[in-house]
Amino acid sequence: MDGSGIESTIRAITAKDRRAAGEYHALSDGARKEVIDALGRSAVESLTHIIKNAKKERFEAGYERFLAIANDAIRTPVYLLDETLIEENMRVTRYVKDRTGCKILHALKAYASFATFPMMGRYLDGTCASGANEARLGHEEFAGEVHTFAAAYKEEELRRILRYSNSIIFNSFYQLDKFGKMARKNGKEIGLRVNPGYAEVATEIYNPCAPCSRLGITHEVFAEEFPKYRHMVDGLHFHAMCEQNSDVLERILDTFGKLYGRYVQGLRWVNFGGGHHITRDDYDIERLIKLINAFKREYDVQVYLEPGESSVYNAGVLISSVLDIVRNEMEVAIVDASAETHMPDVLLMPYRPHIMKSAPPHELAHTYRVAGPSCLAGDVMGDYSFVRPLDRGDKLAFTDMALYSIVKSTTFNGINLPDIAVIRDGGTIEVVKRFGYKDYRGRLS
Ligand SMILES: Cc1ncc(COP(=O)(O)O)c(C=O)c1O
Repeated sequence: MDGSGIESTIRAITAKDRRAAGEYHALSDGARKEVIDALGRSAVESLTHIIKNAKKERFEAGYERFLAIANDAIRTPVYLLDETLIEENMRVTRYVKDRTGCKILHALKAYASFATFPMMGRYLDGTCASGANEARLGHEEFAGEVHTFAAAYKEEELRRILRYSNSIIFNSFYQLDKFGKMARKNGKEIGLRVNPGYAEVATEIYNPCAPCSRLGITHEVFAEEFPKYRHMVDGLHFHAMCEQNSDVLERILDTFGKLYGRYVQGLRWVNFGGGHHITRDDYDIERLIKLINAFKREYDVQVYLEPGESSVYNAGVLISSVLDIVRNEMEVAIVDASAETHMPDVLLMPYRPHIMKSAPPHELAHTYRVAGPSCLAGDVMGDYSFVRPLDRGDKLAFTDMALYSIVKSTTFNGINLPDIAVIRDGGTIEVVKRFGYKDYRGRLS
């Protein structure tokens, strides 16, 4: 089948023709594999390059589309997701699978707007969940496997998790001992999360390997207990990265190999966790591919990755309107989106989200502090400058807001949750969710 498509894709790749990306992505699973098998090393690296450039171009066009919609009559606040951009991220992610045979799960904790799951499910192998609700959502709305990890399970919750998950990952030998038989009886695979003993995450609260971390069994405990439980375990899991490149993974794998390598032989899989920023422009995909392939050669296991951020990186914005501008030593613009309730990582990390068409304070002619409507004094996104003075009613679009925002938003102060809207097919806007008093009241008693 696909024979002429395969040949023309190979010709386009060899000629370094940018259309090769579209041709490659349109091929069936088997045909893409044939293309990769037929390419020499330098041609396959060209393909990586072409795919990354195609993604970059799509995102540049997407940025303009976000701006145009923000400046139009869209109701605010709204999380606006671009399905074609998420799909572009999915294509890059699937390419890693194509080159390595690894399986990739989407981490629901980062993004769980199921309006785009039918599309995402066509590219990935399933989802990873943090408990019963995510496991159920993954099972019902996203195709494929569900792998669940929690630092500790309650029996009643685990019973629900077992209904929806293929694989249960335990964080201690106590939990494995307590629940492992039940998981096995229900036909589930069993994994153990280990602490790889090395991470490069500077912000302590995001570092799973920080001193005294509860996340992952340490090597000392593992070496003592594992031999007793070996027969119950299918795989090992580690998660030690946050928004990082594959050079960091290389160093983590080095430590992992030294600490746990000898135990991997005979297991079915190793899960490298999340935090891989695969869809970022400067991410070194070739290095990731080399690392996975080398790991598979050395240990003969199925490799899993479970990135979340990278699935929707830069594919959504939060659009807000300026409600008022007040003065206290500087101009302060109060908008209808809140850092506290709608983008909590801004305060937690903390970081200054980017606003489209703005620059750092005083770089452009008009500088404002941009802040939310809540009672929290620190409900501030940051200081920004603009070419023109801001006016009440102006729209401000915060970039990269699909991840860890919608899933974390709250109704503190009774502030309404933003609408969720999806741009389909690079054009049509579908408002998939609108919240109101019922949603606020429904969480209270
Ligand atoms: C166990 C686990 N897997 C996957 C992820 C997803 O990470 P990211 O969204 O940074 O890729 C996380 C994030 O905290 C995690 O804790």
